[in-house]
Amino acid sequence: MTGRPAPPPTVSESPARQLAWWLERPIQFLEHCRRRYGDTFMVRLFGAEAPIAFLSDPDAIRTLYIDPELNLMPARRARLAHILGPDSVFVLDSGPEHMKRRKLAAPSFHGDRMRYSREVAREVAEREIREWPRGGTLALYPRMQAITLEVIVRAVFGVTEPARNRELRGMLSELLTELARKRAQVGLVIRSFASGVEPLPRRLRRVLARVDRVLLAEIAERRAGDPTEREDVMSQLVAARFEDGSGLSDRGVRDQLMALLLAGSETSAVSLAWTFDMVLRRPEVLARLTDPEGDDAYLRAVVWESLRLRPVVMFAGRRLASDLVAGEHTLPMGSDAAGVPWLTHSRPDLYPEPHAFRPERFLDRKPQTYAWIPFGGGARRCLGAAFAEAEIQVVLDTILHRVSLEPANPQPEPLKRRNMTVSPRNGTVVRVGEVER
Ligand code: HEM
Repeated sequence: MTGRPAPPPTVSESPARQLAWWLERPIQFLEHCRRRYGDTFMVRLFGAEAPIAFLSDPDAIRTLYIDPELNLMPARRARLAHILGPDSVFVLDSGPEHMKRRKLAAPSFHGDRMRYSREVAREVAEREIREWPRGGTLALYPRMQAITLEVIVRAVFGVTEPARNRELRGMLSELLTELARKRAQVGLVIRSFASGVEPLPRRLRRVLARVDRVLLAEIAERRAGDPTEREDVMSQLVAARFEDGSGLSDRGVRDQLMALLLAGSETSAVSLAWTFDMVLRRPEVLARLTDPEGDDAYLRAVVWESLRLRPVVMFAGRRLASDLVAGEHTLPMGSDAAGVPWLTHSRPDLYPEPHAFRPERFLDRKPQTYAWIPFGGGARRCLGAAFAEAEIQVVLDTILHRVSLEPANPQPEPLKRRNMTVSPRNGTVVRVGEVER
């Protein structure tokens, strides 16, 4: 009799040991599990309310992501609901309301809308490198954080007036620092896998209230003018209409903006820092990127390859409302399942010599939807993926053409897990020089 396939094997270490390993050395943990159990296995992390099936087979990942009804892992909402607000696309339950709001915001992130964001990214990067110490050293990661934050404030929030822009950036960077501090506390890291909504610490609440005041004032200003005349995302959200002709409330606009800030600034900064770390160590790649005759196809391929080899988000998961047969396994109802980019992207059957940085692999063919998953997939796929790719391309291109950078450390950066992302441990320190012409 042919029954349903068996559930995936469960990692045998205790949940406490698995969590400690995952927090300390996530890649080593993943590689160990893959060697021992194959391409699908169930992980149990201490504090998590359900086991998580880690998937790396594109067919299984496709089965998981194409179901638009599958909900988020509840921990995503628990961690962020107080900050983003309940109506933000990032935390809304999957279903009609999420789709409605996602559809409203999506046009702002279509490829053809990226012209303005590209322009902003170029200007911000140009201004940033004027300050860099020629002949000195500099950690790129914090500088990339400054760039991506300013790009969000200008291109997404549309705040360009210098004093206001500075004030808002100050507040947002305080907000992001407070959030990072909260997440770094061990107890909270453990609880971050649970689904109970966390109350916010007082300091965080205070910063958030200040940010909200500024954003609501900006939204009111857009409503008083003609938002269709402006190109920033906030104006587009204010002007956008649902099918029934109604629009977002002020709070609704604010919630989406906050989601874009939280989802879009740190991720892009980490990804940029990794991209520099890999490119600067490969003279042939650097030469091709800085060639005056250089082509956009190669630049695009470099960014895809960088997101393949150093995916910054460790996994994007869903809660299973019923058993799901995915690939060779039945994933049990009530557990979570997640595509794990690191595992998928390092499969030799998908990417020959998977650990080599080879942009050429993406010159003839674009990344395949379920074999290249730095942005997750399906109805919850990263809304800002085109924005992020454009931003990384422009910032990389602008900086490499204006200054000469050399890695200050001979060894490639080790990885450091920071909450849900993995970033370069030492911040990608470089020596800065003038470009020879
Ligand atoms: C390299 C940069 C980035 C990476 C690696 C990244 C990655 C991700 C991932 C893995 C998800 C979850 C997808 C899923 O559950 O299937 C996500 C969701 C999301 N991202 Fe990004 N992201 C990046 C940049 C951005 C930017 C720049 C923005 C906006 C300005 C953005 C906005 C969002 C939003 C709104 C969601 C929630 C989508 C939904 O639930 O419908 N992201 N991102």
